[in-house]
Amino acid sequence: MIPVVDKPTIQYVVEEAVQAGIEEILVIVSSGKDAIREHFAPHDALEHLLEKKGKAKELKCVRSLSDMAKMHYVHQESMRGLGDAIRYAKDFADGDPFAILLGDTVIRSHTKISVLQSMVQIHDKHESSVIALRAMPRSSISQYGVISGKAIGDRLFEIDQLVEKPDAAQAPSLLAVSARYIVTSRIFEHLEDTRPGFGGEIQITDALNTLAQREKMLGFQFEGERLDIGNKLEFIKSNVLMGLEQPDMKADLEDFLRKLID
Ligand code: G1P
Repeated sequence: MIPVVDKPTIQYVVEEAVQAGIEEILVIVSSGKDAIREHFAPHDALEHLLEKKGKAKELKCVRSLSDMAKMHYVHQESMRGLGDAIRYAKDFADGDPFAILLGDTVIRSHTKISVLQSMVQIHDKHESSVIALRAMPRSSISQYGVISGKAIGDRLFEIDQLVEKPDAAQAPSLLAVSARYIVTSRIFEHLEDTRPGFGGEIQITDALNTLAQREKMLGFQFEGERLDIGNKLEFIKSNVLMGLEQPDMKADLEDFLRKLID
């Protein structure tokens, strides 16, 4: 729920999913995160008040939140890892492929379509799981899930192995798993058998590794930025980047930044 400029991070993530054609979203949260559900719920009293005051722009904003997608929520009983959290989506996915978007990360595409939209297109064409990838320097590669695989097209890799947070010297490549995944529902069979891995947690990366041994899995090295809002520096950068995209503050913000640097 940490806001970047004027919206909580999760809202950017939900908007990205909706833009890629996703109509139903399951939010998997630990207990005590009711603010997320409240944020996307209808706000009758507030809507009424804005209507009365003739605040059409604000009213549209509030309404669009609850109209955006069909939202579902589930509580992860204890924080046993990303893989454990995703197990809660089994009934929701109901045998279909589905997308996983990490709620603390905003992805900004440098192409005309979003990274998730590109991934949906790749998935539709190849009928396989697709993992978002970003090249990282060796000095930080041990903070990520890392793949190995062979290049099969423009920014496209066929993945043969995934390792969660390897030692830098042992990393199978410098391509890091980056907060967006489209996976087939077979992942749930592998999650059942996945024992705690890195950090004593059930890792989605380990389940993906066994899935990649059994069916085709692609990696897409996207053109764009991955902004991890849980990281202080990236949080500040995100506010500047998104602030510069707002026409009503662009000039003032640019002026402020220029004076700061001079
Ligand atoms: C998670 C995943 C990891 C991935 C990273 C960034 O790690 O486990 O494989 O590379 O997100 O998307 P976390 O940042 O939760 O430690």
